[in-house]
Amino acid sequence: MDKRYYVTTPIYYVNDSPHIGHAYTTLACDALARFKRLDGYEVYFLTGTDEHGQKVEKSAQAAGVDPQAFTDRVSQNFRDLADVMDFTHDDFIRTTEPRHKAACQDIWRRLEESGDIYLGSYAGWYAVRDEAFYGEDELKKAPDGSKLAPTGAPVEWVEEPSYFFRLSAWDERLLKFYDENPDFILPKTRRNEVVSFVKGGLMDLSISRTTFNWGVPVPGNDAHIMYVWLDALTNYITAVGYPDTEAALYKKFWPADLHMVGKDILRFHAVYWPAFLLAAGLEAPKRVFAHGWWTNEGEKISKSLGNVIDPLELVNTYGLDQVRYFLLREVPFGNDGDFSRRAMVGRMNSDLANDYGNLAQRVMSMIHKNCDARMPAPGPFSADDQVMLDAAKAALGNVREKMDVQAFHEALEAIWVVIRQSNGYVDAQAPWKLKKEDPARMNTVLYTLAETIRHLAILTQPFMPDASARILDQLGVAADARSFGALESGAALASGGAVAKPEGVFPRYVEEEGA
Ligand code: MSP
Repeated sequence: MDKRYYVTTPIYYVNDSPHIGHAYTTLACDALARFKRLDGYEVYFLTGTDEHGQKVEKSAQAAGVDPQAFTDRVSQNFRDLADVMDFTHDDFIRTTEPRHKAACQDIWRRLEESGDIYLGSYAGWYAVRDEAFYGEDELKKAPDGSKLAPTGAPVEWVEEPSYFFRLSAWDERLLKFYDENPDFILPKTRRNEVVSFVKGGLMDLSISRTTFNWGVPVPGNDAHIMYVWLDALTNYITAVGYPDTEAALYKKFWPADLHMVGKDILRFHAVYWPAFLLAAGLEAPKRVFAHGWWTNEGEKISKSLGNVIDPLELVNTYGLDQVRYFLLREVPFGNDGDFSRRAMVGRMNSDLANDYGNLAQRVMSMIHKNCDARMPAPGPFSADDQVMLDAAKAALGNVREKMDVQAFHEALEAIWVVIRQSNGYVDAQAPWKLKKEDPARMNTVLYTLAETIRHLAILTQPFMPDASARILDQLGVAADARSFGALESGAALASGGAVAKPEGVFPRYVEEEGA
């Protein structure tokens, strides 16, 4: 089995400070990357910033600085976010790097050689905010009578010489590709949307502009700047060494296993990108997953409404593991979701503090107090103990199945089924009553619980790395015994090890008086 995994985030436009939407996309990839590493895969996890194009150029002008200085500054904000969120990317690409320019110009040459590019002129609508072209029939009217893109972005009329990509010649080939790769686009509903879009026929795509400078020049005609989406998409191969298709990283990791994207940029990834790659004689990625959008307390998030959610503020208020958990648990991954402080606090207090935290805390306290602060040795397991242990063992398989289709909420729910079962088992076995009556039985029950918690904490690492590590520390699980391989090896917790007085890892959130 090929145990390599290449996962990418979109590269973020540097026109803006990072917000919850950016944190969300990368978080999903981070959880997946961590999961795959624990599952024995060699992982390459890529993120970065999209720094060319008119949108960034305009933002730099508005800030009164040259685009390079501007992108240097804003790109750093995204790196800072990654640090705060504890993201474990292997590479952070910036499209203004020389390695990327070389890759863009090379893919252009390949497309030219294959006959997929021709020079013409473009006359039509363009939305700088989306960096996208729109047909007249797609536009809607703003209350003031001006024209808007379907996304609500203002459009402007553009008329200029332009190179085109012969996308119109690709519909049959793309449909065949989707057919042969039924899981290329997930979720299924999004796949159906893309398939019907392509079935409706494709128009040639303008892939160069002449009215601004901030981008990669077209090889052989530097009056033209490459369309920012062709430039941006190419980052996924630049990062693994393209144009050197013999590079070790390229050979190992391309085609990518997963491009994680928001639903708004699916068309670029699921239609244009495979067409570019196949036309260039390169392999298409294995999967594009389109997730949904967050609203804030029911409202669309936008700068003009002033309701942008700052991930740093969330982490400072609720804690990193709590925010990571909430974002991946609250909403079925793929659907839109609403961020509300009430829901955040609800999950934090009930799922984390009450269910998981309390389980770990009370079991470890009983071991500390009643077993001389040592991991007890179990006696023979009863049928109830065995049911508990079997459920803990089965969790990995269940979680893996959900992670393989990016169903993070279901993966977490599969873990919580075992957490709730464990709490039921504690109540039913009442180990606190056994100290006097039957200490041997108490030891077996507490050991069964500790062993169950070991499974749980190993499984929650990709989602909540810090709290999981602290629980594993308390259990005395060695750093090299925290992978899924360790779970599958059959080795159980050793008895006799010291158990320190436990400290709670999931504090309750208490609203401040008057807040
Ligand atoms: N630069 C392009 C991507 C190029 S990839 C080759 C881009 N950048 S972006 O910064 O505008 O958006 C990046 C991601 O953030 C997208 O996946 C988008 O869906 C996501 N989100 C932006 N706002 C969001 C929410 N409110 N909720 C969830 N995700 C959202 O597009």
